Amino acid sequence: MRAYDIILKKRNGGKLSKEEINFMVHGYVRGEVADYQMAAFLMAVFFRHMDEEETYYLTESMMRSGEILDLSEIPGVKVDKHSTGGVGDKTTLVVAPLVASCGIPVAKMSGRALGHTGGTIDKLESIPGFKAELPLDKFIENVKKYGIAIVSQTGNLVPADKKIYALRDATATVDEMSLIASSIMSKKLAAGSDAFVLDVKFGTGAFVKDKEESRRLAKLMLEIAKKHDKKAAAVLSNMNQPLGKYVGNSLEVIEAIETLKGNGPKDLVELSITLGALMLDLAGVFSFEEGKEVLRKKIENGEALEKFRILVKAQGGDEKIVDAPWETLPVSERVEEFKADKEGYVSWIDTEKVGTASMLLGAGRKRKEDRIDHSVGIVIEKKLGDFVRKGETVAKVFFSEKSDLEAAMNLLREAYFISDTSPGPFKVVEEVIK
Ligand code: URA
Repeated sequence: MRAYDIILKKRNGGKLSKEEINFMVHGYVRGEVADYQMAAFLMAVFFRHMDEEETYYLTESMMRSGEILDLSEIPGVKVDKHSTGGVGDKTTLVVAPLVASCGIPVAKMSGRALGHTGGTIDKLESIPGFKAELPLDKFIENVKKYGIAIVSQTGNLVPADKKIYALRDATATVDEMSLIASSIMSKKLAAGSDAFVLDVKFGTGAFVKDKEESRRLAKLMLEIAKKHDKKAAAVLSNMNQPLGKYVGNSLEVIEAIETLKGNGPKDLVELSITLGALMLDLAGVFSFEEGKEVLRKKIENGEALEKFRILVKAQGGDEKIVDAPWETLPVSERVEEFKADKEGYVSWIDTEKVGTASMLLGAGRKRKEDRIDHSVGIVIEKKLGDFVRKGETVAKVFFSEKSDLEAAMNLLREAYFISDTSPGPFKVVEEVIK
């Protein structure tokens, strides 16, 4: 077998066999398939796609590229969650402690920023001292001891995704359905939980923008879970505007803490409660509707916030961030306001551009090797349907470098559409698919 022939076959629209897919994936991990060949292969998949069977084999192949975790020594049903990626999407920081505060063990492996979207691990690393890279035995020990751990793709877990994810980010091949489904499901299956809740985004800030296509993506991932005898559910959620108000690493940690204190924005609270209640439902402890009530109480009585404090401390972070987030998290003091150039309703937001603006400020990576600037980001003051007057502040931009600020401001100007008519009500949770 040769990588060249497999690339050619996919480029010409052919269907790949299990062996051909294994050859590409395992060859790439071993260094026998070169970066440029995998990049060409990914582009061929981007244009020609993979059917359900090929996607299943790709997921299997990636999952088996490294270790597969056995979490059976942790008592109880382990439920994991994953998002297909969004802008201002800090739900894991809210949902994980929320669900763990109900006694359900949360063993979460999260990712870093990808394209215009943020990553949970980059957000957590804005907490002084926080260690996201734990050895696997420590990860399991923490889940047993504290009921919660959130770590980066630790050890030899799905090395194929680690390599392919970074390459996709650099070669404009992120937003393809079979690549997204296999990337997410290989990690979820290898990380060893019993059930998964998938937050599948659609809209201007999602990788898959079309609602119907995201529904297909959700169903594809649920089918893969079912084939592995895992329980799973999906939420189709609306990414036609940033989630909550804050975009950027420290800023998103601050908003998550405020949400756990009961002061969260409506859309973030609703989505977090929905995802959390589904996790409780899959764990078999509460029905979906009961779970929503229980989770609201866990916010009201402060137990979810305490679980977040435990998580931060257990992974070496400074717990002062819980009580005084603005004072202890790095937040830039250089702030510029983006103002409306006319009066009217915010009628449409190109959310991807808002995410890219934040990335350009330094909240994400322009190149694989870039360091994240945790102190920068954007606070959204006006969302869909809000009325703005000429000269009123639409967003506040927290920046470090003047040159980044200009690029971010230009993108924000392109991202916001203000018109005479209101766009109508916004629903963040579009559908729950079980
Ligand atoms: N999240 C992932 O883990 N992989 C993707 O491809 C997209 C979002």
